[in-house]
Amino acid sequence: MKKDFLSIIDIDEFELESIVADAMRLKRLKSAGAAHEFLGGKSLGMIFEKASTRTRVSFEVGMTDLGGHALFLNPQDMQLGRGEEVRDTARVLARYVDAVMIRAYSHATIEEFARYSTVPVINGLSDRLHPCQVLADIMTLSERFGDLHDLKLAWVGDGNNVCNSWILSSALTGMEIVVASPDGYQPKVEVIDLARARGARVSVVTDPAEAARDADVLYTDIWVSMGDEQERAERLRALKNYTIDSRLLAQASDDALVMHCLPAHRGEEITDEVMEGPQSVVWDQAENRLHAQKALLVRLIAGGMPATD
Ligand code: CP
Ligand code: NVA
Repeated sequence: MKKDFLSIIDIDEFELESIVADAMRLKRLKSAGAAHEFLGGKSLGMIFEKASTRTRVSFEVGMTDLGGHALFLNPQDMQLGRGEEVRDTARVLARYVDAVMIRAYSHATIEEFARYSTVPVINGLSDRLHPCQVLADIMTLSERFGDLHDLKLAWVGDGNNVCNSWILSSALTGMEIVVASPDGYQPKVEVIDLARARGARVSVVTDPAEAARDADVLYTDIWVSMGDEQERAERLRALKNYTIDSRLLAQASDDALVMHCLPAHRGEEITDEVMEGPQSVVWDQAENRLHAQKALLVRLIAGGMPATD
């Protein structure tokens, strides 16, 4: 296992399988009320340049469940906000905490942080990637489908950070990813090339119905990601035909699941009816952030879980 988790392809398919298995075990332990304090006395620093509900709460509760402690660090309240360099902050924090989770505007900030940190660094979302989300989503699909190899996931909408992590994940799961996005909002060629070089099955189309046809999973995300607020009007115009609604869902396979990383803007990328409908698994995805990240933390900080409960 690499020191850091900056991208879903920082782990290989065997590590992914084992983290998902650990996450399922941690979920069972928690629901049974059984202690699982595998990170007693350990600390996680959490730096958030951007807003968060799920990532912040799931990492903090996760560390508490594991017998450790998490610190919420707002760059504006740190010397980082007054110009202290990322590389200096990284080296200092590594003297206090056992791992750092960082959500940053620029992926380069997280890479620099990881380069200088002697403790594991976890990407809690950047402009380029959101690997923790996709880790939890893979757990969610594994719970529902078991084997993922033959599944087809249709990404509908903005080819953003979450979409990029899905594209890369195909190299690990073998899932087919078909992205439907309008010109100008398609995922970057470098990401697709990197994923394909690792064996991913990925294609990009402009027609949502083509992507959705016989898909096992329909996935979407907000049209205006954090950092893109200035482009709101043009994004809403460009993406207006990329809503997951019941008509699009009817194109997918009968037992298809609908996923969204949240937060959602009902009436834009997804209708209220679909989000609240029986095929939606959005709340399971949100819950599984907790279990999947706990498994990841135990792996990165303690080298893995003890063999038996
Ligand atoms: N999905 C997700 O990362 O949510 P938050 O922005 O609330 O952390
Ligand atoms: N693409 C979204 C994901 C939020 C969890 C964003 O970056 O804002």
